[in-house]
Amino acid sequence: MSEIRFDGRVAVITGAGGGLGRAYALLLASRGAKVVVNDLGGTFDGSGADQTPAQKVVDEIKAAGGEAVANYDSVSEWESAQNIIKTALDSFGKIDILINNAGILRDKSLMKMEIEDYRKIMSVHLDGTFFCTKAAFPHMREQGYGRIVSTASAAGLYGNFGQTNYGAAKMGIAGLMNCVAQEGARYGILANTIVPTAGTRLTFTVMPEEVIGKVKPEFVAPIVAWLCSEQCQDSGKMFSAGGGYFSRAAIVEGPGVVLDAGKEITIEAVVEKLDQIKSLEGGREYASAMEQAGMILSKMNG
Ligand code: NAI
Repeated sequence: MSEIRFDGRVAVITGAGGGLGRAYALLLASRGAKVVVNDLGGTFDGSGADQTPAQKVVDEIKAAGGEAVANYDSVSEWESAQNIIKTALDSFGKIDILINNAGILRDKSLMKMEIEDYRKIMSVHLDGTFFCTKAAFPHMREQGYGRIVSTASAAGLYGNFGQTNYGAAKMGIAGLMNCVAQEGARYGILANTIVPTAGTRLTFTVMPEEVIGKVKPEFVAPIVAWLCSEQCQDSGKMFSAGGGYFSRAAIVEGPGVVLDAGKEITIEAVVEKLDQIKSLEGGREYASAMEQAGMILSKMNG
């Protein structure tokens, strides 16, 4: 197949000073994109700030002959998120691609979790993704083109001990992208979600050393780049990637049962049908909440 390129395209990548974001920035820039490398540069739990990481990635891109500018704002406030997008407009005149990637961790069991740990995680991950997307969307809509990729996690899709704050935010991001995909469809704006696995400073503490070398951020970057490309026509989808593994994840609803609403629907009547209710055999995805509602109505009408 012909080479996938980003010449003339402008990309904003949040949290691109290290880990996965850096790999995305280097790959897109190497294929011709002009990149805004955003990174607040704090610690892995969200304290402090440092301009060095974003600047270093910009230097790397420039040294390789690419075009990039740094931005050091936080994604987690509406004003600063708008400034991240404004950096793309001021520097390169537009924004075509947004990768919502910035992230931190504050793992604790629910019993020990401070309200501040919950709020901080929600503000960086969920608010940050919402704010950057909202700031970029009108410009993409006006030009009739946009590619948005946001970052979820298996901790949200499947659950993980000690990550109630993070899991909630990450699954929220998947829901956000499902809705943005629908609002963007008419304007050539595609919105998808990546579920990555990579050895970065966020996973150094939980991954064995021998695994870290095998799950390089560079192994996730190709599918994210594809989701950012003109060639991609998928939207509202979730993709898993790590260590050379690539797959699609989805919410699937089983065919279920319809009980006669003409009669009283008792607890016992529901329990009697539990096997059928729980079965995913013959299940399917729905393209929208409206489609799912239509399915329920059609089943009710026999
Ligand atoms: P990382 O810590 O190397 O990269 C995250 C970057 O985001 C850091 O450079 C950090 O300075 C920046 N950042 C943090 N708060 C920010 C803010 N408020 N504004 C702007 N930048 C900020 O970690 P990694 O692993 O590369 O994480 C990237 C994304 O992937 C995160 O959203 C993370 O939750 C997600 N993820 C990573 C997984 C993995 O296996 N590494 C698994 C699942 C999800």
